[in-house]
Amino acid sequence: MITAVDVIRTKRDGGELSTAQIDWVIDNYTRGEVADEQMSALAMAIFLNGAGPREIADWTAAMIRSGITLDLSEVGKRCVDKHSTGGVGDKITLPLAPLVAVFDVAVPQLSGRGLGHTGGTLDKLESIPGFDVNLSEAGVVKQLKEVGAVVCAATGDLAPADKKLYALRDTTSTVESIPLIASSIMSKKIAEGADAIVLDVKVGSGAFMKRLDQARELAETMVRLGADHGVDTRALLTDMSVPLGRTAGNALEVRESVEVLAGGGPADVVELTVALAAEMLAAAGQPDADPAAALADGRAMDAWRKMITAQGGDVDAALPVAAETEEITAESDGVVTGMDAYAVGVAAWRLGAGRARQGQPVQAGAGVEILKTVGDPVKAGEPVFRLHTDTPERFEAAKESLVGGWHVGAESAERGPIVLDRLS
Ligand code: URA
Repeated sequence: MITAVDVIRTKRDGGELSTAQIDWVIDNYTRGEVADEQMSALAMAIFLNGAGPREIADWTAAMIRSGITLDLSEVGKRCVDKHSTGGVGDKITLPLAPLVAVFDVAVPQLSGRGLGHTGGTLDKLESIPGFDVNLSEAGVVKQLKEVGAVVCAATGDLAPADKKLYALRDTTSTVESIPLIASSIMSKKIAEGADAIVLDVKVGSGAFMKRLDQARELAETMVRLGADHGVDTRALLTDMSVPLGRTAGNALEVRESVEVLAGGGPADVVELTVALAAEMLAAAGQPDADPAAALADGRAMDAWRKMITAQGGDVDAALPVAAETEEITAESDGVVTGMDAYAVGVAAWRLGAGRARQGQPVQAGAGVEILKTVGDPVKAGEPVFRLHTDTPERFEAAKESLVGGWHVGAESAERGPIVLDRLS
């Protein structure tokens, strides 16, 4: 007979969990028979002692089986999904999904909400008046057939074990574990039923993985899990030491994404959007497609307008703006030599763009505008950041989080490469 206490003890003492133990614990946790405190102890034991490839594969398979698997065969196109491990200013899904849909590839982006310092795609899109993130399975299939791209909330029936476990990990400091992250992401993605998955594995201060070797191990683990389940899975390792683009915050990031779709926008956001689109299109059998052209000539913008309209959003409505702004200025002349993604993410969160607990509302207009980033010259007294919030009492805490998070120096500086490595 398997008991929760035995399973926890096995992992606590550095042992290997059997397939039967893993199946039992995931099934009983999903049904509420294993208590949250028992699962917390097990998550911490895995966090501290790790898990081997067979255990990770079994854990992922059990989480997939905890719920339904979407059937996207009716869509009649190649379905390719992208997932980012989470970062600051990471708005890439917004321009990327419609861009890839231009090429008659279906992009089902079942996304999450922000928690802590990393933003959530659903929170960003909900800043567009009228936009609805709650679609039924039939609604997802219909929109993929007609529009090609959908960005919506994952239903509670997809990998429900992960939904419970992720919330628990968030409150027990057990998120940053390679076995737990890999199984969490891949169970949801595989249950979504896409033919191929492209992973954007972030590395740096604003990411869960701070070092390249950790990020590579996470990416390799996820690529292997995808292959085990017959899903073509590729990964890019990308820099998250500096925020992506010039904004972190919900409506602020939508505005920047629309600039990218209009053929402009920050160079790093454009570069990563095109790199991920090329990977997705290659996985869909179109290695020679030219996503940069579709972004520059307005075809991706047309697809964006269709996608937003299909989900009830008013593409022409003004986006919400925060009630108050405040600027942070440079104290000396020089060049911006450092801009820490984590510091900016925490500032945006404290301004009201993010939530401390699941279920809390977020402010659509809150966040940080980065007016000068790495490599930009700046003069004493010139603004480097513009902070936005509806609740000005938050300014002080946001400013505190930026102290030491950016630097102006005499030497020149350049933003390093965005794409650091590729795995398939
Ligand atoms: N994103 C997820 O979906 N799960 C994790 O564990 C971490 C990031």
